[in-house]
Amino acid sequence: MKHPVTLIPGEGIGPEVATATRRILEAAGVQIEWEVISGRADESTDQGQRVNQAAIDSVRRNRVALKGPMATAIAGGAPSVNVALRKSLDLYANLRPVKNLPGVKSHFEDVDLILVRENTEDLYSGLEHEVVPGVVESLKIITERASTRIARFAFDYARRHGRKKIHAIHKANIMKLSDGLLLESFRKIALRYPRIDPMEVIVDACAMQMVKNANKLDVIVTENLYGDLAAGLVGGLGVVPSANVGDDCAMFEAVHGTAPDIASKGLANPTALLLSALLMLHHLGERAAAEKIEAAVLKTYRDGIYTTKDVSGKANTEQFTNAVIDALGAPIAR
Ligand code: NAI
Repeated sequence: MKHPVTLIPGEGIGPEVATATRRILEAAGVQIEWEVISGRADESTDQGQRVNQAAIDSVRRNRVALKGPMATAIAGGAPSVNVALRKSLDLYANLRPVKNLPGVKSHFEDVDLILVRENTEDLYSGLEHEVVPGVVESLKIITERASTRIARFAFDYARRHGRKKIHAIHKANIMKLSDGLLLESFRKIALRYPRIDPMEVIVDACAMQMVKNANKLDVIVTENLYGDLAAGLVGGLGVVPSANVGDDCAMFEAVHGTAPDIASKGLANPTALLLSALLMLHHLGERAAAEKIEAAVLKTYRDGIYTTKDVSGKANTEQFTNAVIDALGAPIAR
């Protein structure tokens, strides 16, 4: 039976990396029925810049989505479609495995960090207003419910994957109530997982630890604002995947954006979306296919002939994609 999956190709390099990812999954023989849909209501009009309700309905129906990046206007314009999708679908946990790839230069070796980011609240609530001219207020919302479920998600993940330590990242020395509530919830949940070591680190100290000893970090759990980190540790945005997980559905996407500087040039690195698709395959129970594709990706990086420019290689998107398909042992379909 084919797995029904919503595909939101996204914008900028999104459609390029989505096509590459689909080709590789198809070459590996994964059976997926893609429902391709735009993330925006109407891409051609200003009014249509908001999230497409039909995309939300499609993900609810299929319960699984693969998504390319979507642009968000800076200081004005429509609210983020990415945030709207995650919030509407209550995809409260953003999971980012940050791991070295063979042959990709980075400041650290042996990084194997799991970042768990709360996805639905904090300063991403988007609740801002002008109090009086020249004074604005932006609301940071932290609830016990969301803090507890993200802590539980992180500890469950750690237990299932044999992880030993979880660092809660906070700024509760200053934001005593909001970040304090996150920590309090973390401590309560930690008591139920005696085999996992709970640690607490102030966000500034964590940033320092990341640039000094990234390979000593195991699992991190944190609020929305502090969690958009870590891609630079292992070779950049082109290689870091993520999963947005809720109780009813899950949406898999790269951590990078639309990369307007290289869009439509055929230069994008599809690795981040491809690795996100592998997280999706594990979620769908397609473990063997995920492992087979991962082995082909690792071989392509180890060989180092067809890697893309962002990781100091020379290949374009298509050459990298063909190399992965070649490594799968499948014929190259164009
Ligand atoms: P970006 O991630 O799009 O690009 C930053 C730099 O990394 C650029 O030089 C780009 O060429 C490079 N890069 C990113 N992904 C790459 C890939 N796969 N292969 C090769 N190079 C890659 O970040 P930026 O420029 O800050 O954001 C552009 C737009 O994307 C903005 O509108 C932003 O809001 C949106 N965005 C969307 C996200 C999402 O949909 N989840 C996440 C992050 C940003």
